[in-house]
Amino acid sequence: MSPTQPPRSVLIANQKGGVGKSSIVAAVAGMVSAAGRRVLVVDADQQANVTSSDLGVEGDRGKGLSMALQYAHPLEPTREVRPNLDLIPGGPALAVIGAIAATAAQSGMDLRGNLVSTLNDLQSVEHYDLILIDSGPGDAPLLDALLGTARYLLVPTKDDDASLSGVELLAARYLRARENGSLIQLLGVVLFDANPRATARNREVFEQVEDLLEGSGAAPFETFIRSDRAAAVDLRIRHLTPAELVAAAEDQLKNRIQRLRDKEKRLGERLWSRDPSGLASDYQSLTREVLSRLASAEKDEVSGGVA
Ligand SMILES: Nc1ncnc2c1ncn2[C@@H]1O[C@H](COP(=O)(O)OP(=O)(O)OP(=O)(O)O)[C@@H](O)[C@H]1O
Ligand SMILES: [Mg+2]
Repeated sequence: MSPTQPPRSVLIANQKGGVGKSSIVAAVAGMVSAAGRRVLVVDADQQANVTSSDLGVEGDRGKGLSMALQYAHPLEPTREVRPNLDLIPGGPALAVIGAIAATAAQSGMDLRGNLVSTLNDLQSVEHYDLILIDSGPGDAPLLDALLGTARYLLVPTKDDDASLSGVELLAARYLRARENGSLIQLLGVVLFDANPRATARNREVFEQVEDLLEGSGAAPFETFIRSDRAAAVDLRIRHLTPAELVAAAEDQLKNRIQRLRDKEKRLGERLWSRDPSGLASDYQSLTREVLSRLASAEKDEVSGGVA
């Protein structure tokens, strides 16, 4: 594999579904772009949760990304879905990739090579500060192409056994990608949908994750993302990033008296979450941790980490 995997590209993956991959991509992208850095989100999932539910974008149903993977067709991002935030939409057009990968040897199609080169071409024009790649559950052939494309890997997990065994499966795939020449590095594992009060349980999961990561050179992230179902519902129904939800909740509080007077008030207009600021602050500190781990990984490379 060529050493041209795009710098600052982070794949968010776990072979288990529903562990927070898309939520983390949307939240971190929202925070970094709101701070004035240019971000590209690549939605490499046929479900297109980041595209449609989290960011509220209609998209091209994954056609552009599918064409880039198959034919190195130039990537055309949907621009400024938020200030400083561009998106390569996901969707059902990515479903063909699995079938194509199965016959790639005969067809000579190089999914990984095509994605690396189209992303590098785009990056050479756009100079994004961060590229976040969301992946779907399962879909192993596409996942292997992504593990050969991104420079860094972030793995979210819940604390149940099924999610933790998803981490283990992914760790094996990650090691295989590296054996095949990918430069991808594990940034860490982040605990998602966790109960902040269950400190003993969280510590136990932390230790379990540390065991899983042994020898990988990575540690679990200190930040975990707290469970907040009301906020999770609002984020997706309203297509808001966590910081946008905090602003909407503050707005609702300010306008409460006005709304109580308003006889036309409809239930559907009310947010389910009263105070999403705890969840937003978890994402803020995860974002800080991700950026600082990226910075130190890059520093190691510069100072001769080309071992
Ligand atoms: N803080 C939270 N607490 C509880 N549930 C949450 C929280 N944030 C998001 N959720 C919900 O958890 C579910 C899974 O989240 P998400 O879609 O981000 O996971 P995923 O790993 O991307 O899933 P998939 O594998 O299907 O792509 C969603 O229904 C989402 O609304
Ligand atoms: Mg998802």
